[in-house]
Amino acid sequence: MRILFLASELAPLAQTGGLGEAVAGLAAALARLGHDVFCALPGYRDLLRHPECPALAPAEAVELRGVGKVLRGRWLAGRLPTGVELRALELSGLYDGPGLYAGDASDARRFIALGRAGAQLASHLNSDVLVAHDWHAALAPCVLRAQQADAATRARNTAPTTVQVVHNGAYSGRFGADQFAHTALPSEFFGPNGVEFYGGLCLLKAGLLFSDRIVAVSPTYARELCTSEFGGGLDGVYRARADRLVGIRNGIDTQSYAPETDAALAARFSVTDTAGRARCRTALLDELELANPPAGRLIASVGRLASQKGWDVLADALDGLVAGGAALALLGEGDPQIAASLEDAAVRHPGRVRLVRGWDPALSRRIYAGADALLVPSRFEPCGLVQLLAQRYGCLPVANRVGGLVDTIVDGETGLLFAPLEPDALIGAAERAAGLLAGPGAAELRDQLMKQDVSWTDPARRWISLLEEAARVAPSARA
Ligand code: GLC
Repeated sequence: MRILFLASELAPLAQTGGLGEAVAGLAAALARLGHDVFCALPGYRDLLRHPECPALAPAEAVELRGVGKVLRGRWLAGRLPTGVELRALELSGLYDGPGLYAGDASDARRFIALGRAGAQLASHLNSDVLVAHDWHAALAPCVLRAQQADAATRARNTAPTTVQVVHNGAYSGRFGADQFAHTALPSEFFGPNGVEFYGGLCLLKAGLLFSDRIVAVSPTYARELCTSEFGGGLDGVYRARADRLVGIRNGIDTQSYAPETDAALAARFSVTDTAGRARCRTALLDELELANPPAGRLIASVGRLASQKGWDVLADALDGLVAGGAALALLGEGDPQIAASLEDAAVRHPGRVRLVRGWDPALSRRIYAGADALLVPSRFEPCGLVQLLAQRYGCLPVANRVGGLVDTIVDGETGLLFAPLEPDALIGAAERAAGLLAGPGAAELRDQLMKQDVSWTDPARRWISLLEEAARVAPSARA
């Protein structure tokens, strides 16, 4: 199949979080299965200057007409080491600023343009499927559907199948109604059965309503999106399209994340040879200047310091965890208030709590390889990456019972799940983890963790059968 991914992030070239990692991992896995995979994203200044960006050459021309001045540009084409074809959009200076997201209304124009140009690219490339990732790409399925409204186009039967992926439905791309004009869609699309949402424009809604299939990044999250608690206001839309909504969990790159060969570690280890893991634990204690806690009580947490990740609950549990004998290795960056409360705890408990602020991929690997357990107290977690990484490195994930964490952790076998998300429940779960990790079954537990298949192999197969099944349905029969 010819598969076009449209996204705002792609690791390692343009990434702020799990989205870029998942897009890159899935694209590579589908390419490995023999499909022609293209990955199109904005030609951000930072992407074009990234040391790992491949050589790019001008390819398809882009022209967006309809409102105000015509936007002109082009796609730059290159090939990634994974065999995935890269397309980077250069368009009237829209992506020349620093960073990926401006975080203001100008993002509407930037990502509306991405959706429109992506829809055009799908026809240029003769794609069988266009996969739109998150709200940034979600206008593309809608633009393609609007073109299908024309009977002649429909008869030609060339439109690609479209899939909207929801990596994080809490972000839905909402802007003022005035931004609708930039979509150049017929005015009837701005209504309750279109991209209008509480009087404004909602780009994710465009992808949810007008794509042929919706994929959430885990089966549990697919169900959660249909509820008012997790649907981000769009739960009614997810429920209305429940027959087109499925969940497929993400994988991780098990070639790169491999304790057998990982150069970032103090020592290497494997399922059959775990001696190196003990050395990684000692090295981690040294590196972070933490006192050696009893077995099972070196606890870590890694991730963005954001409310989604539940760091506030962890902060409230820190005193209790330390009282229970734990040492805590924390790595993350983000919300200054959360950081301050964690740093306060580090001052109260020298040698027992350590926060490293920042994004440090090598240190994160040493943490997975050295810590006994990894706390994942996320409020919501569409799929989650860190629990898979922890499993791969033999570190026991201890996670809130939510979203993709439920689908990737079998309680008591490949991690622990707790609920509700409160300090006492978290402390209780850490206690349970320490009991298991210091008990007679510890070696077997570690074995089970490391043997769990966290690769992209199974998810990629599921993706392909979904895409093939969706593509068999003729465009005229899709709505
Ligand atoms: C988002 C979600 C995370 C998911 C990732 C990749 O970052 O918050 O749960 O793993 O996307 O799909």
